Amino acid sequence: MTRKILVTSALPYANGAIHLGHLVEYIQTDIWVRFQKMRGHTCWYVCADDTHGTPVMLRAEKEGISPEVLIERVHREHARDFAGFHVGFDNYYTTHSDETRDCANEIYSRLQAAGLIETRVIEQYYDPVKQMFLPDRFIKGECPKCSAADQYGDNCENCGSAYTANELKNPYSAVSGARPELRQSEHYFFRLSDPRCQSFLRDWTQAEGRLQTEAANKLQEWLGGEGENRLTDWDISRDAPYFGFEIPGAPGKYFYVWLDAPIGYMGAFRNLCLRKGLDFDEYWRPNSATELYHFIGKDILYFHALFWPAELEHAGYRTPSKIFAHGFLTVDGAKMSKSRGTFITAESYLAQGLDPEWLRYYYAAKLSSSMEDIDLNLEDFIARVNSDMVGKFVNIASRSAGFIHQRFAGQLCTCDDSLPAIQAIRERRGLIAEHYEARDFGKAIREIMALTDLANQYVDSVKPWDLARQPERTGDLQVACTNALNLFRLFAILLKPVLPALSARAEAFLNVAPLVWDDSATVLAAGHAINTYQHLMTRVDRKLVTALIEANRESLAAVPQAGPQKTTAEPPETAAAGTASGPQVSLQDFMTVDLRIARISDAAPVDGADKLLRLSLDVGPLGSRQVFAGLKAAYDPATLVGRLTVLVANLAPRKMKFGLSEGMVLAASDADGEVPGIFLLAPDTGAQPGMRVK
Ligand code: MSP
Ligand code: ZN
Repeated sequence: MTRKILVTSALPYANGAIHLGHLVEYIQTDIWVRFQKMRGHTCWYVCADDTHGTPVMLRAEKEGISPEVLIERVHREHARDFAGFHVGFDNYYTTHSDETRDCANEIYSRLQAAGLIETRVIEQYYDPVKQMFLPDRFIKGECPKCSAADQYGDNCENCGSAYTANELKNPYSAVSGARPELRQSEHYFFRLSDPRCQSFLRDWTQAEGRLQTEAANKLQEWLGGEGENRLTDWDISRDAPYFGFEIPGAPGKYFYVWLDAPIGYMGAFRNLCLRKGLDFDEYWRPNSATELYHFIGKDILYFHALFWPAELEHAGYRTPSKIFAHGFLTVDGAKMSKSRGTFITAESYLAQGLDPEWLRYYYAAKLSSSMEDIDLNLEDFIARVNSDMVGKFVNIASRSAGFIHQRFAGQLCTCDDSLPAIQAIRERRGLIAEHYEARDFGKAIREIMALTDLANQYVDSVKPWDLARQPERTGDLQVACTNALNLFRLFAILLKPVLPALSARAEAFLNVAPLVWDDSATVLAAGHAINTYQHLMTRVDRKLVTALIEANRESLAAVPQAGPQKTTAEPPETAAAGTASGPQVSLQDFMTVDLRIARISDAAPVDGADKLLRLSLDVGPLGSRQVFAGLKAAYDPATLVGRLTVLVANLAPRKMKFGLSEGMVLAASDADGEVPGIFLLAPDTGAQPGMRVK
């Protein structure tokens, strides 16, 4: 049965560049969409720039251009970056469009008719110089708890406490520097506290398969138990001056950016319908037989799993079939950082000459259906791409295509499909498809890589390069290369959702029509002629990665700008040391501790110890070491293998009941236990096992 599916990714803000964190989401979604299309389903993938709000307005002003000109430019940049990473939207639109405005007005008027819109006078900070109401992010002052200076109006970056802008001491406007005044203004609210919304959301969020378990639990928390009324009404209006849509019948009042942003999904699809002659209502009417999926980051779950379905339901539209939330990207185990050079823009990655499919492959290998954060470990990135993609996949073709060309005029003979590797692919392709469908891309990749091992075992056993030197074995050579190229073709199919450009090059050299999923059940017919081998992929050169980090490194002196950025923005790093932490030691004393870079070559749980992992460490010239470390609660052992960390190399060995522990690895944790977790230390890219740390 052909499914009809509409898929979205969250709409990126139009006031910033696309970075590798964003790409987790767009690449994840794109892989899923490409998989659906390869399966023969009708699948539309739409997205748009999220253009409205105060930050865009202020940034345009600062640049001396209109918001319209700014968002046009950013739209071009975003579209360029996404295309560069092969993110294949069917429509990449903008929320600043007639389609989105029409949908927003329609939803608003239906909610109004349903009695779910209410006005209320609220008090808010107003900048008397700039003559505008200030969003919390544009008010700064001293933290009410710890008195740290220059904190934002929502939470303190020094002590981490959350509060409202009105609680800040000595507040000032981040726009003009003026002292803000509290002023009254009439605002429009969506009545989320209405019993209809509450009871609808209780059912909707707990429906089987609608949300990931972790997400459903979060929602349960936000909603509270039966009879509780935890949801408060949602303020959906902002006062002029504001860049957005004016609310019909309310001059000077604008829809808050988060009201029209999800409606931008509809707007983008409506625009696609106009261009392609599709039926918009078929996808959006209640009880539609089509499927609707939103891929989002875990930070915006609240908007997508509460406000959005409640709006749709009560405005007479269908609600999403499922919401797929993913975790956040860390680089080398830490939040992306401008000073460390790990806040990497999509543009710089491509400009430095890195292959976008390296990143697509790496993300795929790391992605699962859960909301866990995913780590881009740069060492692991280099190692995996080189060993898996080049060493295991591309090599199959590069080692056999030439012979077919030179010796057999490009012609294949009969493929031996009783070959164990081919049999195994036939057996596993269904399971691999299930993994793709379930967004368990990491599992799909592991399966595929295990199959490439079988294929390489075959090639290694028949040794085409040896056969080529024996004129009497010409027939065997053709068979060996035919089998190898067929195996390569099968992997190109299984990996096509992840590696669309490489697969296209493979299709060209194999001389075949665009590969679809069902092609993985067949082999090429005898007599099929291939074209000349095209270069498929190069190895990652470590120098490229080092250059990328350098290109993204910003000096610590750079002053962070006020902006709407939340989780993705890097707080200013504290230059001076915090409070002293104990008696001082001399440098000489410190130098007696021999700290070394070590690569974790193996990690495994320890029988009978529920906190420990047994680590095998490669310490370069110092050889290998075994260390028992209390990391089990915080790390899945598989994710540690290949990582670099810091070892105390001259700690006296300790005999434990599980064996000898030959040193200690370094990790951070909060002494008060307020921040849960253990955080293993990792060096910057380029460090090698055995290097001294001082
Ligand atoms: N404009 C809103 C979304 C509106 S959707 C109707 C927004 N924009 S964003 O540019 O901040 O983020 C776009 C998407 O990228 C979000 O789903 C967000 O979670 C995701 N990511 C942004 N930074 C990220 C990481 N560092 N890691 C993974 N995903 C991240 O939110
Ligand atoms: Zn504080």
